[in-house]
Amino acid sequence: MGIRIGILTAGGDCPGLNAVIRGVAKAAYHTMKDVEFIGIQDGFGGLIRGEYKTLNQSDFSGILTIGGTILGTSRTPFKLMQVVEDDNVDKLKCMKDNYKKMGLDCLLILGGNGSHKTAGLLADEGLNIIGLPKTIDNDIFGTDVTFGFHSAVDVATDCIDKLHTTASSHGRCMVMEVMGNKAGWLTLYSGIAGGADVILLPEIPYDMKKIIAKIKERGKRSKDFSIIAVAEGAMSTEEATMKKKAREKLRAESGNAVFKITKAIEAETNFTARPCIPGHIQRGGIPSAYDRLLSTRFGAYAAELILKKNFGVTVAMVDNVVVANELSEVAGKTKFVPEHHQLIEIGRSLGISFGD
Ligand code: F6P
Repeated sequence: MGIRIGILTAGGDCPGLNAVIRGVAKAAYHTMKDVEFIGIQDGFGGLIRGEYKTLNQSDFSGILTIGGTILGTSRTPFKLMQVVEDDNVDKLKCMKDNYKKMGLDCLLILGGNGSHKTAGLLADEGLNIIGLPKTIDNDIFGTDVTFGFHSAVDVATDCIDKLHTTASSHGRCMVMEVMGNKAGWLTLYSGIAGGADVILLPEIPYDMKKIIAKIKERGKRSKDFSIIAVAEGAMSTEEATMKKKAREKLRAESGNAVFKITKAIEAETNFTARPCIPGHIQRGGIPSAYDRLLSTRFGAYAAELILKKNFGVTVAMVDNVVVANELSEVAGKTKFVPEHHQLIEIGRSLGISFGD
């Protein structure tokens, strides 16, 4: 009897998804007899609708360096997984039925935080699940790093580098929004790597006065430009006291932090300021060498877990060693940037303002 492995990619895409898929496949073909891969299309949506196809060995060739995902992806919020909506579809039942219909021995789920919650739910329902930690946000609990993160750090850093030259030529302040709604890892890493002067994370509420003071102080030191790296989810001390819904309403009315800060700099200093939102560019392009390595390691390790029939787990990197974490222990938890993370302390020692 052969082994039938289902594989799906869920949530926002990132570089490295194809490298993981290839890593699993190469290791599985090499170490297992009679292995067959079923590619589920467009994430959990495809699993619910029963959209899948058999993949051949050749489908895994030449994809190491390709960004995005050959399987397609979609967002199906976890909170709706057990809710029957107007279309009358019982999503959980459909996923279980399709898993059986495909005759799967296990299902690999390459996804972020939300997808890990659904992976945990499916494991609880008796399916053989292995998760793989994907996200440019690097916020999956229990792993030091997620694949896709370092590629995004490279892109965001490149954006900051480019803003530097134009900011210094014009003597302006450039305010760049970096992806990351809940956790500020990407902003922290690219901000330090790009030499930003102010770094604002969702985890550290900012005081606009402190940002303005930093820019004025730089002006006094005849630094006629400043770079401010702002996480998508950065919030002011006032916003931090609000409930999520109220904060979102305020955001919709008055714009994200990047616009508020740009306006405040122009209103309260002599500097011209410009906002910049690279947005989804940060999720695009080829995986960096770091991510190709990480994805290949994660993929090959997942194949090993299949051989050992070790299911209900997700692959992780802990102290430079690839390990498996129980889904029940990590799904549903977010890895935030700790207040005293060493990189924050180092940033502070360099004089970088975190807006607090
Ligand atoms: O989770 C990855 C991420 O890129 C976040 O950083 C960002 O907030 C979100 O996805 C954007 O989602 P979407 O692609 O659905 O606009």
